[in-house]
Parts: sequence; C-alpha cells; structure tokens
Amino acid sequence: MTPAADVTNKRILITGGASGIGAASAKLLASRGAKVVIADLSEEQGQNVAKEAQDNGFDVKFQKVDVTQADSVKALFAFAMKELGGLDVVVNNAGIDHKPAPMHELSDDDFDSNIAVNLKGVWHCMRASIACMAPSGGGHVINVASVAGLRSSPAISAYSASKHGVMGLTKSAAVEYARANLRFNAVCPSFIDTPMVQNTLAKLDERGQNAIIKASPLKRLGKVEEISSAIAWLASDESSFMNGHAFTLDGGMLA
Ligand code: NAI
Repeated sequence: MTPAADVTNKRILITGGASGIGAASAKLLASRGAKVVIADLSEEQGQNVAKEAQDNGFDVKFQKVDVTQADSVKALFAFAMKELGGLDVVVNNAGIDHKPAPMHELSDDDFDSNIAVNLKGVWHCMRASIACMAPSGGGHVINVASVAGLRSSPAISAYSASKHGVMGLTKSAAVEYARANLRFNAVCPSFIDTPMVQNTLAKLDERGQNAIIKASPLKRLGKVEEISSAIAWLASDESSFMNGHAFTLDGGMLA
C-alpha cells in the first residue's frame, strides 16, 4: 500500500468544516495526525463533527465563524493561533450555492450573497492567514474554488464570478508572498456528493439530475473523500513546489 502524505502535527484551520468537503477534510487530516480547528456558521453541526472526531481520539476543535464578517474572522484566527500555537495550513472552504437563473434575472441580493461568502469571505481569511503565517516563517493556504472558477455554464454567473475571483486571489497571493515562504493553491472540484449538491438535485427533475450526475466523463458525482485526499496531499510537504495552481478534480469534465 502507498503510504499517505504525511501531515503529522500540522496545524490546520478549515472553514466550512461542519459539512461536506470541509468535514471530510477535517476527519481525514486529523486521522493522519494533524491538529485541526474547524470553523463554520453552523454551530451545532460543527460541534458534532468535532465531537465525533474527538470520540475517535483525533485532535479537532470547533469555533463558530461568519466568514463574511471581518471581526468574526479575526476572532477565529486568534482562537486558532491560541489553540494550535500557530498555523501551517488554512483551507478556505466555506461557501454557498447560487440561485440557478439567467444573469439578468438575478437580484442584487442573489449576486451579493455569493460574492460576500465565496469571494470576500475567502479574502478575509487569506488576509488573516497572511498576517498569522508570514511572521512565523511561512505556510500554505488552500482555497476551495470550483471548475466554475475556470469555466462557466448557463445560469451560474454569480457563483462563477465568485469562484473566478477566488482564482484571482489565489494567483495574486502566490506571486506576492512567495518571498515570505507562503504558498497559495486552489482545488477546483466539479459536482461532488455533498449536502450542497443534494439540495440542488432535490429541486430538479430526472433530466436535470442526470445532467449534473453525468456531467463528467466518469458519469458520476465525485465523492468527498476524492477531494479531501487531494487536500491532504496539498497540506503535506509533498506539494512544496506547487504554488498558484488550480488543482482540478473533475473526473475529466474540463478535459
Ligand atoms: P456544504 O454546503 O456541504 O458545506 C459548506 C459549509 O460552509 C456549510 O457547513 C456552511 O454552513 C458553511 N458556510 C456557509 N456560509 C458560511 C459563512 N458565511 N461562514 C462560515 N461558514 C459558512 O458544501 P460543500 O459542497 O462541501 O462545499 C464546500 C466548498 O466547495 C464550497 O466553497 C463550494 O462552493 C465548493 N465546491 C463544491 C462543489 C460541490 O459539488 N459540492 C463543487 C465545487 C466547489
């Protein structure tokens, strides 16, 4: 068996850690010996994920955050720095879905909410990550973008704009902070089987569901474990020459 990428004792903060990709990443990283803080708007779900991990003997703590609020993000990073004694890796994963509608039918609120969480929330956390990590000699920020950050399709304009923005922030920071030994990469999944996608599927007829499920050449949704294992590799020192990269995990959708 191939040994897993080593993340032993890595100090890792994951936003959106109460559900889906974030929760799966927290569990995998902690099971491989990382010390993890998960943060989420959803307090009860976040506490449950942390408790389940602790019951299995893993080092996972929960802190509530709203990534749209600068003060809340500041408090989160203060908590993580105190609990973990520093930060090696931050996974900016908190995100929301979009209203599927043509661009001209979106309201200001539809557009603003996507930008506030998916883009400005990531920026808040990147700014805080840089402030925490640069003085201590370096670190790695992994942003969860999307294939929608690399290419678009009909009726996803606000979401796609937010994720293209995340790619812009990732590349900008990668070139700005390399001298401070900070790396920035993004993972770009296609449709993954999480509560976010299950909510979308529940609103569609069979034809719509099949269009999503069979969007990739592998003709299935991705599994959260297929994203968390990539995040675990990125979080390890094995990814040390990767910087400013869009790590696409899409079953061949963009090929
Ligand atoms: P999810 O809905 O299962 O988890 C997202 C988490 O983010 C939730 O626990 C939610 O409470 C939290 N969150 C939302 N707003 C927040 C805020 N303001 N502050 C703090 N936490 C907040 O979704 P999933 O699918 O695990 O998505 C995770 C990330 O992956 C998102 O950024 C999403 O855009 C991205 N993604 C997901 C794909 C998918 O097919 N599931 C595909 C490509 C990207």
